[in-house]
Amino acid sequence: MDYQRLLDEIYVEVKPLLAKGKVADYIPALAEVNPSSFGMAVVTLDGSVFSVGDAYNPFSIQSISKVFNLVLAFSRLGDAIWDRVGREPSGNAFNSLLQLEYEAGIPRNPFINAGAIVVADMLCELYPNAEDDLIRFVREVANNPEINYDLRVAQSERETGNRNFALGYFMKSFGNIHMPIERVMDFYFKQCSMSMNCVDLGRSFLMLANHGIVSHSGERVLTVSQTKRLSSLLLTSGLYNEAGEFAFRVGLPAKSGVGGGIAAIIPQKLSVVVWSPGLNTYGNSLAGIQALELFTTKSGISIF
Ligand code: DON
Repeated sequence: MDYQRLLDEIYVEVKPLLAKGKVADYIPALAEVNPSSFGMAVVTLDGSVFSVGDAYNPFSIQSISKVFNLVLAFSRLGDAIWDRVGREPSGNAFNSLLQLEYEAGIPRNPFINAGAIVVADMLCELYPNAEDDLIRFVREVANNPEINYDLRVAQSERETGNRNFALGYFMKSFGNIHMPIERVMDFYFKQCSMSMNCVDLGRSFLMLANHGIVSHSGERVLTVSQTKRLSSLLLTSGLYNEAGEFAFRVGLPAKSGVGGGIAAIIPQKLSVVVWSPGLNTYGNSLAGIQALELFTTKSGISIF
């Protein structure tokens, strides 16, 4: 497969879509990004990298970080995490409060905000300085010691993060948040502010395509079974209430973020990451989804 040619072709085809999405502005610092940015990268299991456009431009990974915090919690705590967070698609927006009341403060899955806040709480309980452990882990799996939080973005989200605070307090009232809310939210906003490029994300997601082993170091971070489970959750919930449509169009486990990134894997083969900050009404990258649909359709490779 000539991945470079494929990426070049996709870039040309999605260009007309770049102006169509809407950049996230509920986090004020994110609204400053150039809406016509577009980058895409493929990293194959042997470490080869193919890229196009702004693939080396760092962007705010936002909810894609929820995968890293889940990998860390799952690897440390195992199946005990499922007592506090579910494994079903929510069918609601990523920041919805609706189901939490009648489901007793247990979020449907670890990728909606409520679920990720519970996982953030687990990490805060586990590590006295969870932000240090998380960033160390991400630098290792991405093989890039320069990756960091963008504290300006974290602060910007904290100032406008009333809905996330509400989710946290509400779950705490059910006993499903153990640490002080201020502490957990501080960590959650930092985690979401992580700044990475498409190639960094491609390298780090490769562990999911590789049965839980980080290719460049040989280190195992998840068991084969845990990797299967986490990837299955990405397929069913990684794009929130657009997960069904995304599975239909693209056919890959993936995670999106409101910074406009989407990271996907083809097990035993590669990771593919796209960044285009214009979002659709579900808060997922509009051109990014189209680019991934073109990727699996033109190449004929998906998980199906
Ligand atoms: O909590 C939030 O709203 C953001 N930090 C992350 C949301 C997000 O990325 C949703 N993804 N499409």
